[in-house]
Amino acid sequence: MATLNPLLTKVFRGPLDLNGPVIGRIFYLFEYARSYIEERIEAFDARFGTDTSAPTFERNQKTAVHFYVPTTASTIYEILGSIPLQPNKFAFVDMGSGKGRALLVASEFPFAKIVGVELSEHLHRSAEINIERYKPESQQCAAFELKCMDALDFDYGDEPVVLFLFDPFGREILQNVIANLEASLKTKPRDVYVVYVYPQFEDVLQSSRVFEMVKEGGPKWRPWSRYVIYAATAAAAASLGMEPPPLT
Ligand SMILES: C[S@@+](CC[C@H](N)C(=O)[O-])C[C@H]1O[C@@H](n2cnc3c(N)ncnc32)[C@H](O)[C@@H]1O
Repeated sequence: MATLNPLLTKVFRGPLDLNGPVIGRIFYLFEYARSYIEERIEAFDARFGTDTSAPTFERNQKTAVHFYVPTTASTIYEILGSIPLQPNKFAFVDMGSGKGRALLVASEFPFAKIVGVELSEHLHRSAEINIERYKPESQQCAAFELKCMDALDFDYGDEPVVLFLFDPFGREILQNVIANLEASLKTKPRDVYVVYVYPQFEDVLQSSRVFEMVKEGGPKWRPWSRYVIYAATAAAAASLGMEPPPLT
């Protein structure tokens, strides 16, 4: 029992801290079990000496509670391997980067830079430590930028972007995040991919004037590994700046 106690404390701390509905606590326990089993199978942290697997609740004074759980590593490899990247042209931006699992995997692809945007200071600091530890020989990009900030305030700059989203927020914030990206595309038309894992609010992308779905994947029986990839070409983005012709 003495050895079980730390584990039980770890597993139950999140739900007990959470003020939310019972369903949130059950969901947390499910996610804890899932992440534990996935780490046993894929051994991501065990191989790289990182700490990305355990789900965490973070309470932020500004924004109530945030739930961190990592994307399955093999899902990120599958997705990024399928995007026809022009080497060193695209920035990878993980919106809601948590402890940095997606950032670490992305560094094995030839991105120009890798940006993590995370609201929780504690998770942001964990990601910094994980990046310091993660040094596989296969790493192709070590230009990391970690930003502890609200996704809604992020400036997309003017380079091609792969925006990665693993179920980070609800519909309303997602709508604003995508609207900000579209506004950036209107100012500076360029190629952009949006990768959305566990796409609960895919309708936000479906209703966009500029994004088209280019791929969907992941097994249906594992909704947390389902993903969609939407793309906007520079030409489509340029059309955002044009007014529609007047109706006659
Ligand atoms: C499901 S986790 C995804 C973690 C990571 N992207 C991955 O794939 O491993 C969602 C993360 O989004 C963060 N988050 C939620 N709302 C946010 C916001 N408005 N701005 C920045 N980060 C946010 C949470 O704190 C949490 O770490």
